[in-house]
Amino acid sequence: MRCSSVFALAVAAPASAIVRFHCSQLVVERLDPLVSPGMIPSPHVHQIVGGNSFNATMHPEKDMPGESTCTTCQFSEDFSNYWTAVLYFRAQNGTYKRVPQLGNNQYEKANGGLTIYYMQDAIYDPAQKSKVTAFKPGFRMFIGDINARSLSEAARFRYLTYTCMDTWTQRQPETMAFPTKKCKEGVMITLRFPTCWDGKNLDSPDHMSHMSYPETGTFESGGPCPATHPVRMSQVMYEVLWDTKRFNDLDWPAAGSNPWVWSFGDATGYGNHADYVFGWKGDALQRILDTPCYFDEPACKKSGATLQSLEEMNNCRLKTVVDEDIGSDAWLDALPGGFQAQYHPGDV
Ligand SMILES: *[C@@H]1O[C@H](CO)[C@@H](O)[C@H](O)[C@H]1NC(C)=O
Ligand SMILES: *[C@@H]1O[C@H](CO)[C@@H](O)[C@H](O)[C@H]1NC(C)=O
Repeated sequence: MRCSSVFALAVAAPASAIVRFHCSQLVVERLDPLVSPGMIPSPHVHQIVGGNSFNATMHPEKDMPGESTCTTCQFSEDFSNYWTAVLYFRAQNGTYKRVPQLGNNQYEKANGGLTIYYMQDAIYDPAQKSKVTAFKPGFRMFIGDINARSLSEAARFRYLTYTCMDTWTQRQPETMAFPTKKCKEGVMITLRFPTCWDGKNLDSPDHMSHMSYPETGTFESGGPCPATHPVRMSQVMYEVLWDTKRFNDLDWPAAGSNPWVWSFGDATGYGNHADYVFGWKGDALQRILDTPCYFDEPACKKSGATLQSLEEMNNCRLKTVVDEDIGSDAWLDALPGGFQAQYHPGDV
């Protein structure tokens, strides 16, 4: 018995990596090179992190690491861009104010932004023994449905969730709609991208169909990839922490309702979505994925990776291209782009 438990410990050592790192805010504005390439401004406001080659147009053949001069991500070889929509608070008089972001736990000094995970197996599994393939240059993907306004419309995106955080490290329970109570620390969104690739296309017209969630079960349960999307990729997950606490003392709508509205007008939360444009330098991501490391920076560094300080990350900034008030200071009569809060048709 004793022998086998020692053996069990030995096999629990990670075989490959699970990494968690932060990326500070690069820019907050109406640009979207994935869904609305070339549009200045794009329809709704985004918050973007990563390499400073981010722009209204980003051709897949573009060498992002080569064109960036800095990145807001902790891994200095990660020039990818990661972005989401932006959250707004709707006051009882119908005006809007942007909800800023906070650094995450362990990254309290970061200037907003978001936390990224790349994992091979379930987050709680220290063995991380699966072998996964890194994304290729030019790869990009999107997840979510900006038009979803009900649970049934959002059901296939059950990996895009909200956590009402009463403590700084709370991660459960997760809901698919906006929380309706005042959360003591903030509201976190957790966004898990699909992990099965068709092995051929770096992108697709809807930016989703070249990827798939597992055929059965989940990534966490080791669910198999469908035959159409046979290549098991790393699970990319974002955590974004919205500083909703600062709005808790203002007037809120009646109990059971919420004051949050996404930058594209969704006041239900079901339109939650996220964008990913791969931009790691050379084989840096694959080297990290193949290095035994379980949330352990010194071990991850054995891949040859270099990590920036939070100060260096915070210092990488991009000037806005779109010159407009996005509701950081003033209360706006409409969201940038003219959106107004849309509720589920049955709710109002
Ligand atoms: C963005 O694109 C414009 C025009 O295509 C170009 O002038 C500008 O330098 C680009 N910015 C960055 C940061 O690459
Ligand atoms: C609307 O409500 C906000 C929040 O209470 C307040 O700060 C702002 O002054 C109000 N605007 C108008 C025009 O009353």
